Amino acid sequence: MSSIKPIIELKKAQQGQYAIGQFNISTDEQLKAIVEACNELKSPLIIGTSESERKFIGVNQVVALVDSWIKDTGLPIILNADHCKTFESIKEVVDAGYSAVHIDGSKLDFKENIELTKKVVDYAKSVNPDILVEGELGYLRGGSDIHKENIEIKEEDLTNVDQAKEFVEKTGIDSLAVVIGNMHGIQSSMKNPPLFLNRLQEIQKAMPGVFLVLHGGSGTPVDDIKKAIKLGVNKININTELRMAYTDALEKEIKDNPDEIKPYNVLAPSIDQTKKVVKEKIKLFGSENRIL
Ligand code: 13P
Repeated sequence: MSSIKPIIELKKAQQGQYAIGQFNISTDEQLKAIVEACNELKSPLIIGTSESERKFIGVNQVVALVDSWIKDTGLPIILNADHCKTFESIKEVVDAGYSAVHIDGSKLDFKENIELTKKVVDYAKSVNPDILVEGELGYLRGGSDIHKENIEIKEEDLTNVDQAKEFVEKTGIDSLAVVIGNMHGIQSSMKNPPLFLNRLQEIQKAMPGVFLVLHGGSGTPVDDIKKAIKLGVNKININTELRMAYTDALEKEIKDNPDEIKPYNVLAPSIDQTKKVVKEKIKLFGSENRIL
């Protein structure tokens, strides 16, 4: 069981007015690139795996890999199970030693979302009192891909302030994933719509102690990210931009050097490009030099 304390790390972010990046992975090279970038810039970090990502890398395997990087670097690397939809998938990762979980009951009706999220909080904290539980409210559109069609975000998709307050009180979650104009993935124009920052401000005022999470960080206008952090966002999830960096570099490498067959050479540019994206995000989120 990991000794990582994610709540303490997010409290530091809340007090210091910066955000910690959650960087999603499905391969060992991505993990290496992200940890190296964070180690070089002395930044805290969260590694995220969705259900399909951890199916690929393996639940026990990713826990062991993250533990080995914690041992080698001394960084407080938080491992979060992203968008778990069921109690069973939460149980699997909690039992395997993840230090954070995200229960996404946002597609359920409000009452069912409360019931499932509360059950997850009770179970996860009974196994590991230091675990961080994130809940979600609102309709977050898109997947971590490049979207050919533009995605329209509607007012009714956004997190409702009164519901959010009740949700936090009744479930006991540590952090809340909010929908404030954000979406997963990037539109093919490479620009996503602006955030509804007023809604974020209302949510933050209604629940000052709760950590606020912005999903869909890829492609979000940079100024909006900066403003969102000032308005209390403490964790920002990035996936699509990392996937693009990895795959674009791999495609180019294979095209430019068709005779190269050593995986450690073929994958080197993917690692470099992933590191570049992570470093940009660390600077944008203000999390550089936060590890003493
Ligand atoms: P992006 O793919 O848009 O960066 O979103 C990632 C995310 O929110 C993972 O939960």
